[in-house]
Amino acid sequence: MGRRKIVAGNWKMNMTPTEAVALAKTLIPLVKSDDVDVVFCVPAIDIVPVVEAVKGTNIKVGAENMYIEEKGAFTGEISPLMIKDAGCEFVIIGHSERREYFQESDAFLNQKVKKAFEHGITPILCCGETLEQREAGVTLDWIRLQIKSDLQGITAEQVSSMVIAYEPIWAIGTGKTATSEQAEEVCKAIRETICEIYDADTAEKVRIQYGGSVNAKTAAELFAMPNIDGGLVGGASLKEEFGSIVNY
Ligand code: PGA
Repeated sequence: MGRRKIVAGNWKMNMTPTEAVALAKTLIPLVKSDDVDVVFCVPAIDIVPVVEAVKGTNIKVGAENMYIEEKGAFTGEISPLMIKDAGCEFVIIGHSERREYFQESDAFLNQKVKKAFEHGITPILCCGETLEQREAGVTLDWIRLQIKSDLQGITAEQVSSMVIAYEPIWAIGTGKTATSEQAEEVCKAIRETICEIYDADTAEKVRIQYGGSVNAKTAAELFAMPNIDGGLVGGASLKEEFGSIVNY
């Protein structure tokens, strides 16, 4: 039984609530698909209006981040309880921008993955190497370390249902997509790591996306690779082009 593809848009810090609803409405007819799961990961303030706008369509909504507590004195944070109640089925965890600009550590991200599962939210866990790491030849070691740290204490059943996004940092927002071979090599290594920590069945089930300058031209070749089950798309998810990526 093959894995179902999943293509998620990561809107990042773009789109006011008004713009978000307009974009969702533009994309609804373009991202229809019977074969691919489609997710819009949107800014916290856009979750409620976007969930409303996509009601009755094939589109699922995700958050771009969340905190590790349900409620309390954590000014400015948003909780798993809140995003779940608002209609999110997914949450991006450990995007490289969160790791870099907000100093989110693997230990902290591991807590977030656990919390997401506690609330029935599917994590899209991101990992990826810098250009320096790639050039130094430590990419696979680094990715294995990230995966092992972020998944500590997560059960095989949970991992089977989650999504892992491999996003080389040098390819994010740079227009420099990894080649299909480069992306496949790392996604395969991630699957092997899951097999090593858990078992072959879990490794077979976990969905692994590629992210980093995915566009309408590169999607088909990337998504055809045996270990790539779709994409996490930034810039191109804000345009009509996202429809062509979903229907690669
Ligand atoms: P990009 O972003 O498609 O704009 O490179 C991908 C991401 O950061 O998820």
